[in-house]
Amino acid sequence: MSITLKDIFNELPKYPKFQEGLRRAPKRELILTDDEIELALKNALRYIPSEWHETVMPEFLEELHEKGRIYGYRFRPKGRIYGKPIDDYKANTLEGKAFMVMIDNNLDFDVALYPYELVTYGETGQVCQNWMQYHLIKKYLEIMNDHQTLVILSGHPLGLYKSHKMSPRVILTNGLMVGLYDHAQGFQRASALGVANYGQMTAGGFMYIGPQGIVHGTYSTLLNAGRIKLGIKEEQNLQGVLFVSSGLGGMSGAQGKAMVIAGGVGIIAEVDESRIKTRLEQGWIDDVFENPKDAFSNAKKAQKEKTAKAIAYHGNIVDLLEYAVTQEVKIDLLSDQTSCHAVYDGGYCPQGLTFEERTQLLRSNHPLFIEKVNQSLMKHYHAIEALTQRGTYFFDYGNSFLKAIYDTGIKSICKNKENDLDGFIYPSYVEDIMGPVLFDYGYGPFRWVCLSGKDEDLDKTDHAAMACIDYERRFQDRDNYEWIKNAKKNALVVGTKARILYQDAKGRLKIALKFNEMVRNKEVGPIMLGRDHHDTGGTDSPFRETANIKDGSNVMADMATHVALGNASRGMSLVALHNGGGVGIGKAINGGYGMVLDGSKRVDEILSSAMLFDVMAGVSRRAWARNEHAIETAQLYNQSDDHSTITLPYIVNDTDLNHQIKKYKGGKK
Ligand SMILES: NC(=O)c1ccc[n+]([C@@H]2O[C@H](COP(=O)([O-])OP(=O)(O)OC[C@H]3O[C@@H](n4cnc5c(N)ncnc54)[C@H](O)[C@@H]3O)[C@@H](O)[C@H]2O)c1
Repeated sequence: MSITLKDIFNELPKYPKFQEGLRRAPKRELILTDDEIELALKNALRYIPSEWHETVMPEFLEELHEKGRIYGYRFRPKGRIYGKPIDDYKANTLEGKAFMVMIDNNLDFDVALYPYELVTYGETGQVCQNWMQYHLIKKYLEIMNDHQTLVILSGHPLGLYKSHKMSPRVILTNGLMVGLYDHAQGFQRASALGVANYGQMTAGGFMYIGPQGIVHGTYSTLLNAGRIKLGIKEEQNLQGVLFVSSGLGGMSGAQGKAMVIAGGVGIIAEVDESRIKTRLEQGWIDDVFENPKDAFSNAKKAQKEKTAKAIAYHGNIVDLLEYAVTQEVKIDLLSDQTSCHAVYDGGYCPQGLTFEERTQLLRSNHPLFIEKVNQSLMKHYHAIEALTQRGTYFFDYGNSFLKAIYDTGIKSICKNKENDLDGFIYPSYVEDIMGPVLFDYGYGPFRWVCLSGKDEDLDKTDHAAMACIDYERRFQDRDNYEWIKNAKKNALVVGTKARILYQDAKGRLKIALKFNEMVRNKEVGPIMLGRDHHDTGGTDSPFRETANIKDGSNVMADMATHVALGNASRGMSLVALHNGGGVGIGKAINGGYGMVLDGSKRVDEILSSAMLFDVMAGVSRRAWARNEHAIETAQLYNQSDDHSTITLPYIVNDTDLNHQIKKYKGGKK
C-alpha cells in the first residue's frame, strides 16, 4: 500500500486565501539553471497525482520564480493550524498523535515566523519543505503502529518501516549534505531543487515551544555575564544593569523578557514593527521608542530607580549603537541577535534601509543587498569596538555575527588576525558563560509539553519538577529553582502548554521518571519530553555550543552524531539530526529528541538509560577536551553510576611542556 495525496484529498483543493497581516517569507535566492528549474518542478510534482499536474504546474513555477522555493500553497490546510489537545487527534499510537500536536504547534500563526512558508523561527528554520510533505507526514503518523518507524529525509517522508516496540517511532534528518557541497551555495541549490530542508533545531525537529524555550537560556546567560564580567554577587540580580542587543524575533524575542526576569534593563533594537507589536501584546516588551535618545534616557531612568524594564527601539541596531558611541552612553552588556546565520538572505537588515525597503531590495537586487549588508556590518563592528574600549562587555549570541563580520573581509576580528581557526577576539556566550558555567556540568534546556493542553497539568508538573531540585547543591540549582518557582507568574507560555527548565543529567532523569509516574497514576495526561539543541551534548557547533572546546575537536561532528545514534538505539520516541542549526549550513551538526511519556514501565526503562546518555556523552567529550568542570562532573559520575565509565584525560603541566618544546627546538638548531 502506498500513501499519496489522494488518501488525503478527494479532489484538488481550492487555492486558499492568505490571511492579511501575517508575516511572509522573503524571496529566497534562486540560483538554478533552466535545466535545474525543470528538475525542481519535476521533483515537486512527484507528490501530485498526474491528473492535477496541469493545474498545479503553473502555480509551482510561479512559486519558484516569485518565492525562490516551491511551498505548494494550494495544499495548506485552511485557517489556523495549532497544537490541539492530544485527544483531538486520530492515530494508532500515542506517539503518532503527540508528534501531530508538536508539528501543528510549530506552524501556529501565533508561534511561527512565516507560517505559510512552514518557517517556525530563525528566518529559515522549517518544519518541512512544503505542504505536500506536511500532509503525508501526518497521514503516516496516523496509520503508524508501535512496530513501525517513520523515516523523514529533509521533510520528505521516505516511508514507514518495520521496527519494534522499543525503537524510535520517528527518525529524521535535515540538510545533511555531502562535505563537498556542504556550504551555503550548495544548500541553496539543493533546497530550491526540493531535496534539502533547513530544520534549524526545533523547527525541523518538531520541538519548538515558542520563545519561552530560549528565555531560560537567555536569563542564565545574562545573569552569569553580570556575575562573571560585572562582579555581581551570586545572590544578587541585575538591578541597575543596562543590556543592549537587537532582534525581537523567534528566539531573540526572549531578550527583553529575560532581562526583566534577571532584574535589569534591556534595550532591544528591532527593524520589523510587526515583531515589536507581537512582543508588546505578549507583555514581553514594556515600552517602544522611535529614536535612540528617548530609548536611552528612558532606560537610564529605570536603571536609577532599579526597576526591571524591557524597551524596544524601533530601528536599526547600528543607529542605536552609533548614538551610544557619539553620546558616550554607558552600556554594561552588549550583544546582537539578528539572524546572521542567514546574513545575506534577509537575516540582517542593513543600516539605511527600513524593513520594507530591505525586503524589496532583497527581491530586486541581491548583489546590491549584499554590498549594503557588508557596509552595515563594518559600521556595526566599529561601533562595538568603540564601546568595548570604554568597558562594555560584548559577546556573540550564537547567531554567527562574528563570522559574518569576518566574512566581510575584516581580519582584525580574528584572534590570529588571519583566519577564524583560532576563534575571534570577542567571546561567544558559550565560550565565556554557558559553556563553563552550565554545559560542562551537564545543565541544559530540558523541556516538556503537557499534551492534554490543560493548564492544571502544567501547574502540577511545575510543582513536581520544583520538588525534584536540590536547592542547596549549587548556585545553578538555585537559579533553576527560582526560575521554575516564578515560571507561571512570568506568563511564558505561547502555543502548547510547555515548560523549559535547565537541568543536569540526573536532574532531568529524576524529573522524567516522576512525570512518567504521574502519567501512570493519571494525575496528568501524557507528556512530551524534549530539549532544544542548545545543550551540553547533541550539538557540534564551533562558534556556539562547542565554542569552549579547546582541544581542536571543535571542528568535528562526532559527538552530535553519537548522541543521535545513542538516543535512537536506546529508544527515544523521536530522534533528529540536522545540519546548520542556529549558525548556518556547514557550520554545525545538531540533534534533538522527543520522548513521549505514556506512564508505562517500558518508558521508565528507556528513560533510565537514554536521558543520562544524552547529556553525559556531551559532558564526557567536554571532559576529554580538558574542561575543568566537565572533568569534575565526569569523575563524580564514574563514582555514582554502576553501568557507565567515562574515559578521563591526564593533564600535562604547561610549563614542563613549553620547556620540553623549547629544549627540543634548541637541540635541532
Ligand atoms: N537566543 C539564543 O540563545 C540563540 C540561540 C541560538 C541561536 N540564536 C540565533 O539568534 C539569531 C536570531 O534568532 P531568531 O529566531 O530570533 O531569528 P529571527 O529572524 O526571528 O529574528 C531576528 C530579528 O532581527 C531583526 N533584525 C535584523 N536585522 C536587524 C538590524 N540590523 N537591526 C535591528 N533588528 C534587526 C529582524 O527583523 C528579526 O526580527 C539566529 O541566528 C539564531 O540562530 C539565538
